This record gives sequence, structure tokens and C-alpha cells, in this order.
Amino acid sequence: MKVLRTTEQLAAHRAALAPDRRVAFVPTMGYLHEGHLSLLREARRRVPPEAGEVVLSIFVNPTQFDRADDLDAYPRDEAGDLEKARSVGVDVVFCPDDPAELYPPGHATFVEVEGLDRHLCGASRPGHFRGVCTVVLKLWNLVRPDLAFFGEKDFQQLAIVQRMHRDLFLGGTIVPMPTVREPDGLALSSRNARLSPEARVQARALPRFLAQVRARFEAGERRVAALLDGAERALAPGRVDYVSVVDAETLAPVDRVAAPAVAAAAVFYGPVRLIDHVRLVP
Ligand code: PAF
Repeated sequence: MKVLRTTEQLAAHRAALAPDRRVAFVPTMGYLHEGHLSLLREARRRVPPEAGEVVLSIFVNPTQFDRADDLDAYPRDEAGDLEKARSVGVDVVFCPDDPAELYPPGHATFVEVEGLDRHLCGASRPGHFRGVCTVVLKLWNLVRPDLAFFGEKDFQQLAIVQRMHRDLFLGGTIVPMPTVREPDGLALSSRNARLSPEARVQARALPRFLAQVRARFEAGERRVAALLDGAERALAPGRVDYVSVVDAETLAPVDRVAAPAVAAAAVFYGPVRLIDHVRLVP
């Protein structure tokens, strides 16, 4: 497994790759868990060693954090990540030591997908998706993947990256991958590592509440007020950032579910903000 530290090394590696070799790319911010590993295993399955390479990036992207304390607290474990990457057959890891590799002095270009970032996490984390799109585009241009894997857990991120991919004719294919969950339903996230034991137990309320929303929907309820009734109580003692039902295409809030929609929530358990969602398809 090759570990590349600079954009120059990554670009040179990509340029030297024979044209018939395929590239499967998994961008991450590290602190790899089973969710990431499921993306990497699928990347390896789709692009076996005889067909090409699996490229993993590990980069805690500063421009997608709206709070400095959140960036500082983001968990990191490079040695553990490299070990895990090796265990699932990754060929190349790009993990720059210095954020200036991706944001050199004088960097002035950002990418924004208008509209889709107006609601949900986009509303409560100003600039977050601008940072995500900017770094994903930079990485995409360096890696030039045939396939790129993104988790469905961050469904707003996935929708925005898919729109950028389409609008900017990036080539290659985005492969959405299902959310991986703990046995008690909590969606895997690198942020889970920062939950205290007490908050970890409380956080079960998030998938439990969303499962209840889906059960109400499946029982025929279509009014959003009724679907989300009792949310604050059900999610307590978590502090609700948002809980909302949005159109699956536009991500705009709806009052009634008449077309495919998503019930999504962001809730703080202690200082840790967790997100989750369920799809509601009439
Ligand atoms: O989902 C993530 O881990 C990040 O947002 C991504 C896509 C790697 C961009 O930094």
C-alpha cells in the first residue's frame, strides 16, 4: 500500500497509471469505522487488483467546519486508519500532513451548489457544503476516479455532491452506499467515538424516533405535523438542532408527504451533533 503525502505525489501517481487501469475512490476524513470499511470493500470488489486501484483519501477538511472547536475535536487516528486500509486491500492512501497541500497560500476558489444547501445541515452549518464540494472537487480532479463511493448516511451531502457531479460533468460514477448501523440502531459515524457512555445510551433515541416516524408513515399518516409529533420529548435529553421532513429531490420542507421524502434530524447528545434520516416513499 502506497501512502502519498502531497498533491504532487498524487497527481504524478495518477498520471503514471496505465489508461486501462480503473480507479475506485473513497474520500474520508479518517477515523475509519465499519461504514467506511463497507465502502472500501465494495470499491475493492468492483475494482479488483487485476482491474485497477482502490484509492482512499484521509483529510480532515478545515473548510467544512463552521466551528474551530469542532474541527479541533474531530477524532484522528492515522496509524489505526492505515492498518484498517491495509486490511481491506487499499492500494493508495492520500493523507496530506499539511492542509496547505489542498489549500495552498492564496487559495481563493470555492464551489457552491445553490438551493440544496438552504435547509437541514446547510441551514445550521453555514458554509459546510461549500467546503465539502470544494474539497471533493479538488480530490476528484487529482484522483480522476471511475467510481467514487459516498455513504447514504450523509444524505444531504450525497444529494449535493451528486448535483455538483452532474452540473460540472465530472465523469466517472458516484456509488451511494447504505448506512451501516450498530445493533441498537445508531448509525455509524466517526463522531460516535466522542459520545460519553451516558450520551451513547441516550443517542439511541435518534434512530428509535425516526423508526417511529416511518412506522406512522407506513400506517398511512401523511401530515408532517403528525409524523413529527412529540419529537422533542422522544429525542430528550438530546438538544434538537432540527427535525424536518423534506422533499427527496429539492430538500425543501413539506407539510404533507405526497412524493418521495426524507425525515431527517440533527441532535446534540452532550457536545456531539449526530445526524440521521429515514426515507418516506408513498
Ligand atoms: O463525508 C465525509 O467524510 C466528508 O464530508 C468528505 C466527503 C470526505 C469531504 O471532506
